[in-house]
Amino acid sequence: MKACFAIVSLYLYQTFAWNHVENKELIESTLKNNDRTLVAYIFPDEEHSQLLEPEWLSAATSRKDFVSIDCSKHSKLCQSHGISSFPTIRLHQPHKSPVRYRGPRTAHSILRFLERAKRPSVVSQVTSKNMTAFQSIDDVVFIGHLSSDIDKETFTALAKKYSDRFSFALASPSSFGAAAPKIECFNTLDSVSHTTTDLSNQNLNRFIKLCSTPLIPELTRSNELLYYSTGKSILHYFPPLPPSSSSAQVGDQESYIKAVRPLAKKYQEYIHFVITSPREFPEAMEMMGLTGGNHKKDGRGKLSLQKGHEVFPLLGDDSSSSNFKWNAEVVEGFLGGIIRGKVRPWNGVSGGNGNGKGNGREGGRDEL
Ligand SMILES: *[C@@H]1O[C@H](CO)[C@@H](O)[C@H](O)[C@H]1NC(C)=O
Repeated sequence: MKACFAIVSLYLYQTFAWNHVENKELIESTLKNNDRTLVAYIFPDEEHSQLLEPEWLSAATSRKDFVSIDCSKHSKLCQSHGISSFPTIRLHQPHKSPVRYRGPRTAHSILRFLERAKRPSVVSQVTSKNMTAFQSIDDVVFIGHLSSDIDKETFTALAKKYSDRFSFALASPSSFGAAAPKIECFNTLDSVSHTTTDLSNQNLNRFIKLCSTPLIPELTRSNELLYYSTGKSILHYFPPLPPSSSSAQVGDQESYIKAVRPLAKKYQEYIHFVITSPREFPEAMEMMGLTGGNHKKDGRGKLSLQKGHEVFPLLGDDSSSSNFKWNAEVVEGFLGGIIRGKVRPWNGVSGGNGNGKGNGREGGRDEL
């Protein structure tokens, strides 16, 4: 009987994607009665809602505190919750204002957000015994070694401001003795840590950014200037776009980041490794010499190095191999060839002009 049920639910899970709550009263009573409910307000026709779907489902598996609402059917309800863009993810807790989720729309980050919200207070307390364990409790963790009340207040205010995104703890005085006040941060994903002793507001905001910006960030309209103004080369990774399935897309991006993280660290003085979404920058791939037209088909991301005015697309011919996996050697070999002057820059013509599909790949291969 039990086995039967498992098969049926697996079947349902695979057939129907979103599992929306359809009953309005049930939604309201869930929000009122549960300690915590994470709600995704989605609009099924909208692209970003569709991209969230596999991530949400993977995070929501066998959880009762995840609810999704189809706002195309329940527009009044969504309006009454003040929802104006899709998808919106919010944490609802009785007698508290809802907290909007602003992080990356991935299962991993959404679950981290929920774990953070479950902690009894925004600032945890740690001793020398459990400090190390706390350092890896979240993707980004801040630990204050502070003794004066005013410093603790500053730290608590910072924690309140960022408690939806990062985790904060104060170390017990016995763990740091008479040492000068300082704040440490740990970026678990990138295995990097930093320390600051300057507790001015201006510096703390900078410190938060320093600790939380991933080694391989997403390039956006608002941060591109930051990267272009340093004079370093930029290695663009263009994630594959649908119609390749979105979970394959996430898989490729994750495997790329994992593979090249050590390189991003090794070359950080010379090269910014960034994720450049063709959705955010529709012209970028073509400008970077990647116009092969196979981008959508093979479900794999593409690379191009931008060095001053020169552009070096990576145009391998193993794109047909279906079990391709990113590895650091491939990428480092590619960078090494450019550094040693063995690879000539893209001539700006092949593949870029006219409508010739596929000839970009041909021309590019000759270049390499
Ligand atoms: C660390 O240990 C102390 C003392 O046992 C305890 O009060 C504190 O809550 C612990 N912190 C965490 C984050 O578990």
